[in-house]
Amino acid sequence: MKIYVTRQIPQAGIEPLGEHEVEIYEGDTPIGHQELIEKVRGADAVIPLLTDELDADVLGYAKKLKVVANYAVGYDNIDIEEATERGIVVTNTPDVLTQATAELAWALLFASARRIGEGERLVRQGKFKGWSPTLLLGQGIRGKTLGVVGAGRIGTRFALISRGFEMKVFYYDEERNEELERELGAKKVDISYLLHACDYVSIHLPLTRFTRHLIDAHQIFRMKPTAVLVNTSRGAIIDEKALAAALRGGKLAAAGLDVYENEPEVAPELLKCDNAVLAPHIGSATHEARSRMAELCANAVLDVFAGRMPSNIVNAQVWADRRQ
Ligand code: DGY
Repeated sequence: MKIYVTRQIPQAGIEPLGEHEVEIYEGDTPIGHQELIEKVRGADAVIPLLTDELDADVLGYAKKLKVVANYAVGYDNIDIEEATERGIVVTNTPDVLTQATAELAWALLFASARRIGEGERLVRQGKFKGWSPTLLLGQGIRGKTLGVVGAGRIGTRFALISRGFEMKVFYYDEERNEELERELGAKKVDISYLLHACDYVSIHLPLTRFTRHLIDAHQIFRMKPTAVLVNTSRGAIIDEKALAAALRGGKLAAAGLDVYENEPEVAPELLKCDNAVLAPHIGSATHEARSRMAELCANAVLDVFAGRMPSNIVNAQVWADRRQ
């Protein structure tokens, strides 16, 4: 079988594929659209990154493609309907990056609340003139109200980490999260109330047509001027221009962002916000998580080749259809 991997990933994801023909894209920026089409055309399996758009156009060239094992937990880069229609299994990398991403969300929360980005720039620019009673005052965290937008795996882990800070926790999700209610006394509320009531808000939703720009100017307007907004999920969930306007206009204290609507571009308005801590999409970037993500991708490919349903399939319909 022919397997195409669109970037060098940890060996844990390559070694298990040894008995097959594996080709790896050698560049360190995303593969071009045309080259991706060529590779998809000849492959039995593709392991793409979240930066590779496998839309209906690209999938239309798949002649013998059986599985797309996305090297990410989010799969908004893949046209799932089209893949399902074509009988192509799609898998992702859940669980193994939950802790890493939840930890990064906390890192951004701390950095934004305590103005670490501004402080770092000040020190590096030689502008630190000594301790001052008023230098870079930020927001305290203990006992404050935490809002978790999306209480799936990562949102839940993120919320549980708040235990040591004795926070009041609200969450927004379609489903009730009994673990959060039991462990933290968290309350399920609607998004508008959450934004209005919370001191810290962290977003953990997948990007879908329902969540795109969910946090728009109207919603940001509900937030406290002292609030901090964190996003480690997908950039397009927030209207970046509206966020930048709020940050610059004193309507929001700070934001910690790991993701952007048009990566790798960052809205110029956001770049101008000193009170935004900007990370380069590194939520899952720990050695442990990236290695286990690679392993999951390889296992998914091998499962499909062997006629087993991968546990991390995202379009189980394909499997059901096969059995009919
Ligand atoms: C994912 O897996 O979707 C993350 O965004 C990668 O860091």
